[in-house]
Amino acid sequence: MVLKENISEYQPKLIKTMILTFYWILVLFGTEVSGINLPGCSHVKPQVRYRAISDEEFVLQCALPHKHATNIYNNSVLNQHEVKWFWCQKNKGHLKAVEGSSNITLQGDALWFKPVRENASGIYICMIHEKIPCLKIVLEVQTKAEAKCAGYGTNTLHLLAGSGNSIACPGTKCYSHIDKVDVRWYKDGRQIEYRKTRKSLKFVDNEIYLKTTYVQDAGIYICDYTIFDNTTRWTMRTAITVEVIAKNTIHPPNILHPSGVTILEAELGKPLELECRVQFGFERGTQKRVIWKRDNENINEKLNQETSVCPRCLKGHVLRHVAKLEEVTEKDLRSNFICFAQNSVGNATAVIQLKKKRRVFFLYILCSAISILFAFLLCTAFIYQHWIEIVLMYRSYVAHNETTEDGKEFDAFVSYAKTDSSESDSAFISEEKFALEILPDMLENKYGYKLCILERDILPGGAYTDEVVTAIKQSRRAIIILSPAYVSGPKIFELQAAVNCALEDKKIKLVLIKFQAFQEPETLPPVVKKALRILPVITWKSSVSTAPNKKFWKYMHYHMPVNTTKVLGNCSLKGFFQRLFSLVRR
Ligand SMILES: *[C@@H]1O[C@H](CO)[C@@H](O)[C@H](O)[C@H]1NC(C)=O
Ligand SMILES: *[C@@H]1O[C@H](CO)[C@@H](O)[C@H](O)[C@H]1NC(C)=O
Ligand SMILES: *[C@@H]1O[C@H](CO)[C@@H](O)[C@H](O)[C@H]1NC(C)=O
Repeated sequence: MVLKENISEYQPKLIKTMILTFYWILVLFGTEVSGINLPGCSHVKPQVRYRAISDEEFVLQCALPHKHATNIYNNSVLNQHEVKWFWCQKNKGHLKAVEGSSNITLQGDALWFKPVRENASGIYICMIHEKIPCLKIVLEVQTKAEAKCAGYGTNTLHLLAGSGNSIACPGTKCYSHIDKVDVRWYKDGRQIEYRKTRKSLKFVDNEIYLKTTYVQDAGIYICDYTIFDNTTRWTMRTAITVEVIAKNTIHPPNILHPSGVTILEAELGKPLELECRVQFGFERGTQKRVIWKRDNENINEKLNQETSVCPRCLKGHVLRHVAKLEEVTEKDLRSNFICFAQNSVGNATAVIQLKKKRRVFFLYILCSAISILFAFLLCTAFIYQHWIEIVLMYRSYVAHNETTEDGKEFDAFVSYAKTDSSESDSAFISEEKFALEILPDMLENKYGYKLCILERDILPGGAYTDEVVTAIKQSRRAIIILSPAYVSGPKIFELQAAVNCALEDKKIKLVLIKFQAFQEPETLPPVVKKALRILPVITWKSSVSTAPNKKFWKYMHYHMPVNTTKVLGNCSLKGFFQRLFSLVRR
């Protein structure tokens, strides 16, 4: 006490706060305190009186009566905790806090009774923090008989969309002895007034008349009117729920997906979703359903299913129904998954079958096969282009030397026609110059072969024919320089001899060079004719200057014997591959 006095002496503000806090604690825990007396409320007179019909929907708003109020409830109002409701039941003494229950809900600034019972009659007190300190409302619930209601009708209306409809105030059927004037209509809490923007909505005899009904007209309608009973003013309030509907469909459901029998790829052990999309026409009630079945058996409880629903779709709606397989099993692969859709008109089915997904490595194999084929083709093209180079390289590095130990002295015997000095004046290189200078210069000096040129290397002594045959037999190749002078002159004998030698000795091969174009004379020996037709011929492009004709010499080298030691001498595989690589890079 001493302490309290001290505080009140020095800090009157704190005391005020404490009292206020205590007051709010009382308010908050009012339920436990029976017969609580709200301070500042005891002398307040009831400001509003409502009459309600028992077993119907009813709503009370915590708002001071206002002539121009256009709202009778506001769901989005405030902080729900700031609205407090208490009540004192009729003929029972004590005040209690109103608690939400199955038929009483506190929503926004209003108290909803769904429905209201006779024992809900009494005095209601509401407070909104810093807005309404105390409002007393009297509610009197009467039965239809007490209120003298004649044909109260239903509290739910189903209006057909697009057609004309009227909504009657159920309450006007009660208190038949009293004239109803000043009926006010509210839809979803807001007062309905005649608006120029919606001329098709009219008030006729306290009823709402809709020339055309829209989906948006659905909602909770409340109508109020005032009655005086022994000079006491009451507000009579009744509610009606309006639903807008369409004509029930005459079609069975239509399965949009899957269509017919659909095969779906699935991986074993992986989860899978089976989706069924069904188009339903509008239908009131809950006749429509979609389920997934396995092979026509109703073992669907093993399938984890979910459906998305559209509550108010007048034009019907598409329903998506999904079954989830947690992991695909072998059994699933053998099953038919059936989507079954049904409404009151009929039913529809569609099937999904699962197929094992082809492993990804199949693709790898395909890819590698294609790349190998491609590489093979490239290789083939490369080898075709560079065959001679490859052979030459192979020979120079890898192949064993053909020129040793075969007992022959020369690599090639050169046979050419001697020309007259007058012809050597021509612009072209003469075959003599070719045979005595150009050919030895390349084959002997560059490639290291040893040629046999009759005039140069064989000392004259024996018979010409014997000398020729001996020289050819001592050589590995016979190089024949063909020209008109050659084929029609006496030198053709050397060719004939070379052919004969080659037929006897397999180690002797003929290399024909077409030095100038020529016509085969009729008189040629048959062996020679045959040889000219069969043997490979290398053409010397005489129009080309003395500059090295790469291709020609490459072919020459190709047809000459293998002589690894003479040029490069070493035989390393590494060198071979280095040169091969440089060939590829070109
Ligand atoms: C409902 O309450 C909210 C918050 O107080 C307010 O903004 C809104 O205007 C109210 N609605 C009506 C229709 O009065
Ligand atoms: C109206 O008041 C009179 C007397 O003042 C009373 O006898 C009568 O019962 C009252 N009527 C109603 C309906 O309360
Ligand atoms: C589905 O409809 C057909 C007729 O179209 C009917 O014979 C069948 O019994 C129906 N199935 C179910 C499961 O209702």
